[in-house]
Amino acid sequence: MQTRVLTVETAAQFRMAVEEAVTLLRQGEVVALPTETVYGLAANALESKAVKKIYEVKGRPAHNPVIVHVASLGMARECVTEWNNDAQKLARHFWPGPLTLVLPRANTIPDIVTAGGNTVGVRFPSHPLMRKVIEGCGFPLAAPSANPANQLSPTTAEHVIEGLGGRIPLVVDAGPTSVGIESTVLDLTGENPRVLRPGMISARQIGQVLGRKVKLEANHSRELKSPGLLPKHYSPRARMTVASWKNDDELSALVASSGVKPEGIHILSYERIPETNPFGRVAIIPHDEDAYARAIYAELHRSDELQAQLIIVEQPPSGEAWEGIHDRLRRASA
Ligand code: TXA
Ligand code: MG
Repeated sequence: MQTRVLTVETAAQFRMAVEEAVTLLRQGEVVALPTETVYGLAANALESKAVKKIYEVKGRPAHNPVIVHVASLGMARECVTEWNNDAQKLARHFWPGPLTLVLPRANTIPDIVTAGGNTVGVRFPSHPLMRKVIEGCGFPLAAPSANPANQLSPTTAEHVIEGLGGRIPLVVDAGPTSVGIESTVLDLTGENPRVLRPGMISARQIGQVLGRKVKLEANHSRELKSPGLLPKHYSPRARMTVASWKNDDELSALVASSGVKPEGIHILSYERIPETNPFGRVAIIPHDEDAYARAIYAELHRSDELQAQLIIVEQPPSGEAWEGIHDRLRRASA
């Protein structure tokens, strides 16, 4: 299959791309579309046959549920049986945006979307193209990240092509995504709201809107609650490690103990930039958390493309604004 790439640099191209995507989605096809977080592989969320294609194309295990994307609060409410106060508050505050709410699932949502579970993850994305496509379809779109299972999420159309080119009919290329890591997944079905997957909307920000403390789910219980959120996930092909060093000597010691030749090593630094550079590559990632999140996956993709043997990522600062980034680095290096 030939994968078409449609760019959207003019209003006319934007309209054309929306039209093409809607046509294919109505036919039960899968289409890769930009969202503000990462590119998604979309299909009609109400048609199990269409959603099945997502699993096939990605090689995604059947026990991992997919997120349902909507273009209004009304559409979100139709996907669930219980829209509680917390959901209403959070949707009004953070939607459209990078927050997924897990709620009791409506009958209209097929088993394959929820991996047989009785909850569904719903998200109202802010990306204008994704919104227009959902509106044009008139049905919600199931969409995991548009990458082969367990690999890095794509933040550009090129990343999508690298991973899924030849297996899907269409990618809409709207340039690099603006958030850069996947949405925060929040479970609202229990007594207390719990973050199942941290993201750029932090547990504290959610807590502020709800007027109570919101917990980050510990890794081990997260595995039971949401099998898709296993520690080893979102990984580059190269071995990766997160480390701190005070100076070049400490970094050299680290490199020596890794057993990998410096030429095979890529350093992703943000503060302690090596002064001598025997490495395959040194990248400098921006300092603030939003810019860091926007850049990190592209840097990891780049290292894979250049066939790095080992990626050493300088440990970013702690603090809740960074919790999503720490989570992804942890998994990528698991
Ligand atoms: O930002 C995002 O969320 C991107 C864009 C495309 O929207 N999507 C994304 O989808 O990251 P995916 O499938 O790669 O990751 C969604 C995660 C899965 O690991 C899954 O386990 C979890 O969300 N999830 C989905 N539905 C769930 C549910 N009903 N209960 C618990 N976890 C759920
Ligand atoms: Mg994914």
